[in-house]
This record gives sequence, structure tokens and C-alpha cells, in this order.
Amino acid sequence: MNQWTQVDRYFTELLVRPDPALAAALEASDAAGLPQISVADNQGKFLMLMALAQGARNILEIGTLGGYSTIWLARALPADGRLVTLEAIPTHARVARENIERAGLGNLVEVRLGRGLETLPQLLAEGRGPFDFIFIDADKSGYPEYFEWALKLSRRGTVIIADNVVRRGAVIDPANRDANVMGVRRFLELVSNEPRVTATAVQTVGSKGYDGFAMVVVTSD
Ligand code: SAH
Ligand code: DHB
Ligand code: MG
Repeated sequence: MNQWTQVDRYFTELLVRPDPALAAALEASDAAGLPQISVADNQGKFLMLMALAQGARNILEIGTLGGYSTIWLARALPADGRLVTLEAIPTHARVARENIERAGLGNLVEVRLGRGLETLPQLLAEGRGPFDFIFIDADKSGYPEYFEWALKLSRRGTVIIADNVVRRGAVIDPANRDANVMGVRRFLELVSNEPRVTATAVQTVGSKGYDGFAMVVVTSD
């Protein structure tokens, strides 16, 4: 095992200690053949701590997979909080609903099936915003549009975190014309040019390899 995976294990055993529902969610996701691209345990807890520190009561996630990051985020909510998570693939949504139910969070979480670009306008039309905390983690080619929708569904103080903005450094390789990498770059450019937000991005290394996340705070409505 490489060193950064060993260090992730050390941190996870010492500080993170995922509960049985989280372990069961990963097992059920594997059994159903979902790709192993959930956030790492310590990254999931990081998301939970960010939402907790912010006092988030209304959370939006774009890209559910088996609901692993969803469960972490929902654990930051108060008893009357809400989380809506958007997923395009029916099998993923079904596995996620089962995992979330098993975690005892079914009453707080809605898994909405559909492509983000269809469900995001629904959320706006239904007045489900503004969200306190938004986690963007679906197809990377869609990040620019997800960011635009996230802004529409934000208020001053909303925190937006976007996963996978490094991709082993691909983000700065001008020869890389992959739609996912181009989507991440375009997203970062939009953030950079957006006067209503302030942002940073941080590289990470660990059990999920070399990647990173961007953090955006909305500073005006
Ligand atoms: N947030 C999850 C991982 C999400 S993986 C976790 O860390 O546990 C990305 C997910 O986004 C996949 O399940 C994929 O099916 C979904 N997805 C891809 N394109 C999408 C789209 N256009 N709209 C909604 N979800 C999409
Ligand atoms: C992929 C997607 C993710 O959200 C992630 O965290 C890692 C990998 C992927 O599509 O390969
Ligand atoms: Mg991700």
C-alpha cells in the first residue's frame, strides 16, 4: 500500500471512524457494481465538518452515486434539516436510497432522479433554495453549468465545494482536451470571473489518489 493510503488509514482510524451505515453503504455499492469513486472516508468527514461548522440546514448535492458523501453531509444536519441529492442513473439512485434509509436518514434526504440540468431548474421553480451548502460532484463536463445553477440556488454565505478539480494535474495540461478536464477548467474560469464569489482550490493526495477540490463562498446575492 502506498504511503498516502497508509496515512489516510491512520487518520481514518484515529479521527474519522466511519459508522457501520457508511461501511454498509460502500459494501452495498460495490455489490451493485457501482464505480468506486466515492469521496474517501476522511474527505467525507471533511465535508460533514464544513457543513456542521457553517450550520447548514438545507444542503444540495449534485452527483449521488451510492449516497456515501450524501450520508456524511446529512449527518451534519439538524433534525429538521433537508438534503436533496441529484442523480442521473436509476441504479445509482436506487442503491443510494437504500443506503440512506439504512443509515436512518431517509426522512431528511431526497434522492432526485434525473440529469442535473433537468432537476436543477425544477429545484429553482419549486423554491427549494436557497441552499446553505452545495457539493458539486457529478460529471465534470457539466461543472460550468452546475456552478451557474448553484449560484441561482445560493444566498450570501452559501458554501459551494466542487470535487475533482485536479485529476492528477490534468487541469493544467494544455494538451488535455478531455471533456471532463475542459469542464473543470471552464468552471474555475467562471469562478475566477464571478464578482459575487470568493474562492480557492486545494490539492489532495490519499487513498483516492492525487486530486483536489475547489471551495467557493458566495459573498453577495
Ligand atoms: N458524490 C458521490 C460520488 C458521485 S460520482 C460520493 O462521493 O459518494 C458522480 C455521480 O454523478 C455518478 O453517480 C453519476 O451517475 C452521476 N452523474 C453523472 N452525470 C450526471 C448528470 N448529468 N446529472 C446527475 N448526475 C450525474
Ligand atoms: C470520478 C468521479 C469522481 O467524482 C471522483 O471523485 C473520482 C473519479 C470519475 O468519474 O472517474
Ligand atoms: Mg468526486
